[in-house]
Amino acid sequence: MLDKMKKLLVRNTLKTGLAIFATVLAGSSLASTVPQILKEHCNRCHLKEGKLQRIDGLRKSPEGWDMTIARMYLWHKDQGALEISREDRRALVKYFADRQGLAPEEAAPYRFLMEKRPSSQDVVPDEDLAQMCARCHSFGRIALQRRSAVEWEKLIHTHLGQFPSIEYSNLGRDRNWKELALTQVAPKLAKLYPAETPAWKSWKARKHAVPTGKWRVSGHRPGMGDYAGYLRVEASGKDHYQVSYVLNYADGNHMSGTGQSIIYSGYEWRGDAVIGNQKVRSVFALSADGKQLSGRWFLREADEKGASFSAVRDGNEAPASIVAVFPSLLKAGSEAHLSVQGVQLGAAYELGAGIKLLSVTQKNANEVELTVSVAEDAPVGLHSLKAKDSGAEIKFAVYKQFDSVRVEPEYGVARLGGGTIPAVTAQFEAVAYLNGPDGLPGTADDIRLGYVDASWSVDNHDEKARAEQDVKYAGVMETQGLFVPAVAGPNPARKGRSNVGDLSVNATVAEGNGSKRASAHLVVSVQAWNKPPLR
Ligand code: HEC
Ligand code: HEC
Repeated sequence: MLDKMKKLLVRNTLKTGLAIFATVLAGSSLASTVPQILKEHCNRCHLKEGKLQRIDGLRKSPEGWDMTIARMYLWHKDQGALEISREDRRALVKYFADRQGLAPEEAAPYRFLMEKRPSSQDVVPDEDLAQMCARCHSFGRIALQRRSAVEWEKLIHTHLGQFPSIEYSNLGRDRNWKELALTQVAPKLAKLYPAETPAWKSWKARKHAVPTGKWRVSGHRPGMGDYAGYLRVEASGKDHYQVSYVLNYADGNHMSGTGQSIIYSGYEWRGDAVIGNQKVRSVFALSADGKQLSGRWFLREADEKGASFSAVRDGNEAPASIVAVFPSLLKAGSEAHLSVQGVQLGAAYELGAGIKLLSVTQKNANEVELTVSVAEDAPVGLHSLKAKDSGAEIKFAVYKQFDSVRVEPEYGVARLGGGTIPAVTAQFEAVAYLNGPDGLPGTADDIRLGYVDASWSVDNHDEKARAEQDVKYAGVMETQGLFVPAVAGPNPARKGRSNVGDLSVNATVAEGNGSKRASAHLVVSVQAWNKPPLR
């Protein structure tokens, strides 16, 4: 029984394809060497005249390599491709991502896809490419690869061979898909995403920074708020690290944990850790100078739940900086206690016109507490909190009243759950704004003040939703702006329709004697049947 379960587990990991994270046995001594793995798993089909045909010359993100390697067994097992262990697969991803990866600037526009940012929208260079190539998967999956014109053509042939319906399905049958793909799309992609670029050439040639040492971190977790903390990184092998996190949320919650991380392509950090009691994954980029680490971490079982993350070097050698101040939104005519989080902090601060510093308590070089009084007539808008000795600074906001509120994200997607497929929740937040110089809400010069508490509700988005009673069936809006979708499946009460819905999300923010309202759009869609590393 146990054996059977183990086998099932192996199969599942292969399918979902996340070997690039560092959970178990990172750098295990059991692992075979790369030439052995290639010999056992790849050469038979790919090695010809001393070259790995179809492999040499391609460049991909770690996720891209992982998906292709997982695909070899799934698609070509009938021709003799062997199931590959997690460790071997990870070793190959490492090998190829280092030799044939993407330069930081090549991956930058599509990091949101690797970071699994929820409710983010795909970026497509033009409408033709959107119709031809981004109707089954994201365009980002393509833009995170580099290859020659011939290799782009071969990929199109692979599509035609594997998915013949590509020519007959929607946006395929209204045109000569094959001819357009080969004569127009392939050359266009070869220009946009060529195999060889100066960016990769120079990135590959340079010496890469390592992340070992102490870091001072900060970020925002939708639904839970801002946090600041510490990360410690120790080498456990080449490009393999043991890490420990301490995260202190602005609301007083503390969490800590440990894990492992791997760096691919000289900067692509992929980590697994247990923080608090939750298994989390981290997708960060290490800056070229090794001074910053940034990206997103998310729950392993629910990647829509996560937090932005950025880190700077900590310790005596590191430059002074302020990474966060809690709270960062102050009301005119009030007294406030501020917690300043940073590196090499001193005891002297400036807060700008109308704000008086009443007391400073230095806890240590990383944390200082300030008591301030904000005058009734302090200028509203953004202020700078500035360390007098080092010049390090961070923005905070002062308001008398909010001019408007917006809901983020403006357009959210949640997915029904059911059976073995968990629901995908959608987290909303309310953000307060000032109108800015033009005096009008909703324009480009509005000043973003920060997150504010709200009470939440949902409504039917339009007439059709009203007629179908989407609010009643699609799920529940919880108090903190978290929408939890209903279960999937034909619902007899809806004449067999599933519990999908088209909703408006409403936030009401108390303001003085009144309140401000704002809305967003939420689509509650069908289950996420599979969650590939890159959608
Ligand atoms: C049984 C034969 C077989 C084995 C074994 C095999 N491959 Fe493949 N591989 C193929 C075929 C056929 C294609 C072309 C169709 C496709 O892309 O699946 C291919 C395509 C590829 C591509 C190009 C995909 C793209 O991006 O267009 C890569 C990269 C690749 N293989 C890597 C590997 C690696 C690494 C291994 C070893 C873990 C491996 N293959 C093992 C048959 C095999
Ligand atoms: C009919 C649906 C469909 C269309 C249209 C489509 N693809 Fe795909 N594509 C797929 C599927 C399915 C996969 C691989 C399966 C998976 O996700 O594991 C895939 C995989 C890929 C991959 C990853 C392959 C690898 O091994 O790295 C790339 C890159 C890609 N497609 C590019 C394109 C391009 C370029 C176009 C337009 C010419 C395109 N796709 C159009 C369905 C489609």
